[in-house]
Amino acid sequence: MRAEDIKNVSVIGSGMIGSGWAICFAMNGLNVILYDIKQEALDWAKKHIEDSCQTLEDCGVLTPETKQALFDRITYTLDIKEALDHPDYIQECVPESFEIKRGTVAKIEELAPPTTLVGSSRSRMRISDMVTDEVVHKERYIIAHPFNPPHLVPAVELSKGPGTTQETEDVVYAFFKRLKKEPVRLKKESIGHAGNLLQAALGRELRDLIGRGIIDFEDANRLLNYGPGFRYSTIGTTLLSDAGSAAGVKGLRKMGNTSGLRLMDELATWTVNPNPVPAESAVVEDLRKALLPPEAAESREATRIYRDTLLIHQLQDHKLI
Ligand SMILES: NC(=O)c1ccc[n+]([C@@H]2O[C@H](COP(=O)([O-])OP(=O)(O)OC[C@H]3O[C@@H](n4cnc5c(N)ncnc54)[C@H](O)[C@@H]3O)[C@@H](O)[C@H]2O)c1
Repeated sequence: MRAEDIKNVSVIGSGMIGSGWAICFAMNGLNVILYDIKQEALDWAKKHIEDSCQTLEDCGVLTPETKQALFDRITYTLDIKEALDHPDYIQECVPESFEIKRGTVAKIEELAPPTTLVGSSRSRMRISDMVTDEVVHKERYIIAHPFNPPHLVPAVELSKGPGTTQETEDVVYAFFKRLKKEPVRLKKESIGHAGNLLQAALGRELRDLIGRGIIDFEDANRLLNYGPGFRYSTIGTTLLSDAGSAAGVKGLRKMGNTSGLRLMDELATWTVNPNPVPAESAVVEDLRKALLPPEAAESREATRIYRDTLLIHQLQDHKLI
């Protein structure tokens, strides 16, 4: 199988991630079968795909005609046999449960062609948690972990299991490059891969700062959004450091060896949050009003459209869409 031969893709599980992947694949001219076990889930996916594509049209990425062509490339089904009959690539997007993930692998082994490659969206499991000893075609399974929304965030983490071949990784890597994604190869399996661990580290510091009374919840969110987060997406952390010092990273290394060490002492070390941040809807409502323009703060859906619009502008600036 070569990356350029992948034309038919099956997405298993049509929730938040599966429906986003369906847009990504269909936007790149691939035929997509989107499978779920519940009709309500397929109905939700259809609406989510239509709404998300409306934002792409409003930003000038799609026209009414290309949007319709994208919709026409997606087939919705409750029939697993239809979904697994002849895909060139499968993207697994079922809930994060050992039982459901392993059940999905069993169905793939039973029904899909043995040469079909399988990417798994899973966030907090390793490929070896799902591809057990009994699985015959271990070589074709790989983690292909996206960031939500998968059709708008470029990075995809690839992580092999003990049975995954290098060829599988190379083909899946080339496939995502073809889709204008930024695939990243992880050298070892890890629960949470790398991206979720980086996010968890930031989240822990954020909660720690709030718990220690250094900053309040609203300002902590504002700081991350308009400070570190605002510039990370431009040139990445190391190049930001290099550009941020007259002597480049060499100058920063000197600084890091002295004042940087003091910062290490300040970082949180707990593993169970001693000061949980309130998660009530009212808190989120207040945060929306504080951080967003009024039209984006009206509802979760309005906020999603605003988020997608900003992400699409970033993709356009990075020439990735
Ligand atoms: N939500 C995120 O931000 C995010 C980001 C990256 C990766 N992921 C990963 O993507 C996967 C899916 O997450 P999600 O957020 O889309 O979940 P979700 O709950 O939104 O969607 C899961 C879908 O799978 C369907 N489903 C349940 N059992 C099934 C089965 N046996 N066969 C087919 N479909 C089945 C459900 O009906 C549902 O529609 C998980 O592994 C998750 O860790 C999620």
